[in-house]
Amino acid sequence: MSRSKTTYACNECGAASARWLGKCPSCGAWNSLVETVAQAPAGGGKNRLGAAFAALAPASDVQALASIEAQDVARTPTGQAELDRALGGGIVAGGVVLMGGDPGIGKSTLLLQALDALQRAGVPSLYVTGEESGAQVALRARRLGLAGSQVAVLAEIQLEKIVATLAARQPAVAVIDSIQTIYSDQLTSAPGSVAQVRECAAHLTRWAKAQGCAIVLVGHVTKDGQLAGPRVLEHMVDTVLYFEGDTHSSFRLIRAIKNRFGAVNEIGVFAMTEKGLKGVSNPSAIFLSQHADPVPGSCVLVTLEGTRPLLVEVQALVDSGGPSPRRLSVGLERDRLAMLLAVLHRHAGVATGDQDVFVNAVGGVRISEPAADLAVMLAITSSLRGKALPKGFLAFGEVGLAGEVRPAPRGQERLKEAAKLGFSVAVVPKANAPKRKDKAFEGLTIHAVERVEEAMALARQLA
Ligand SMILES: Nc1ncnc2c1ncn2[C@@H]1O[C@H](COP(=O)(O)OP(=O)(O)OP(=O)(O)O)[C@@H](O)[C@H]1O
Ligand SMILES: [Mg+2]
Ligand SMILES: [Zn+2]
Repeated sequence: MSRSKTTYACNECGAASARWLGKCPSCGAWNSLVETVAQAPAGGGKNRLGAAFAALAPASDVQALASIEAQDVARTPTGQAELDRALGGGIVAGGVVLMGGDPGIGKSTLLLQALDALQRAGVPSLYVTGEESGAQVALRARRLGLAGSQVAVLAEIQLEKIVATLAARQPAVAVIDSIQTIYSDQLTSAPGSVAQVRECAAHLTRWAKAQGCAIVLVGHVTKDGQLAGPRVLEHMVDTVLYFEGDTHSSFRLIRAIKNRFGAVNEIGVFAMTEKGLKGVSNPSAIFLSQHADPVPGSCVLVTLEGTRPLLVEVQALVDSGGPSPRRLSVGLERDRLAMLLAVLHRHAGVATGDQDVFVNAVGGVRISEPAADLAVMLAITSSLRGKALPKGFLAFGEVGLAGEVRPAPRGQERLKEAAKLGFSVAVVPKANAPKRKDKAFEGLTIHAVERVEEAMALARQLA
């Protein structure tokens, strides 16, 4: 074995440095550099870079694009319709999926259910567990009602043994639960370290591509919602799925952050039950809190996740703050919140400069689309004034720095869903208001606004 040399690698981005630094020069993260042992890969050639890239795809001759046969990717449905939706239709042979999520959110549960369904459909599968014993997995399978499951289970954390098992059994789908527990004896650093995670993931990716085996890597997630370990993992794999949701509520979302085989905006919605995760095929109303009467500081919006509209309640609490007031948001971007507060002040005369402002999207959803702006602002002013918005009220629309209210994509669909769920008052951007009377909006009074101050005045009248 070649003499190993100690280097420092960034936990966030994987950048290497010869000495320890408090701040990563490449991604700017603090305290993220950890000691690692840099080694030439086994059979190390002179060119380390070459060896690392050779890992990703088998070398082949150069061909003209037109002469390469384009094959439609064959997708195998997992038997979990909501998971398939997030995957873009099912798993793809040779595709590598990284599945991240907070501890205890249900990653192992969902994947075991999916593998069992695949196995029952005649797709050979392998579940590699590095975190639990075979007995624990069996116990979970029994709880999930998967008695008599033929899924092959391997409790192993050494990469070389796992690859040997893959080679011997040739499964069509394999789950590695989790990539952070796997280590390769080619490296001396500890399991879970950047070098190990990266090397193991690269090795498994290479295997998947070469053998046409679909591999799902389970990855742990840090508190701030990033996939722990090097970000290079996200670049290496074909699909990154992220499990979100509030562990206190039973609903879970699977969101594709990246997908080389499908759209990224689709989400899968599940409910955690005694018998595991069950898909929710009509999720539009699950993120509404169950107040009998409207409360101050709450406003409902219709967000579009992929192809399905989803009604989500946004809550705000505005309270007198200390010398440096706080702005905190859960499920919504904090920078966006600061911007909205500035727009409120400048264009609607609503001052929150000396107040703490907290904003939360109910049910642990993450809303990234700007169409939430109007609802966030209405929730904030409602809390500030201590006045609830009327029952059956909802709003959506993007707000610009000049105080203009911009249309949201596919506004009519959003309004239709709201009407269907019995909402009665909507404040929406002018361009989203229906031009003609339509039966689909019956019972819903639609107010069209062009400016933020108009929307705020309207809310004051209605409250
Ligand atoms: N008896 C039970 N009845 C209902 N739900 C249960 C039961 N036991 C466990 N659960 C649910 O399953 C969840 C654990 O799921 P799972 O082990 O699949 O999570 P995970 O994402 O794999 O976690 P980890 O990161 O720890 O591996 C628990 O948080 C709980 O909600
Ligand atoms: Mg698990
Ligand atoms: Zn870094």
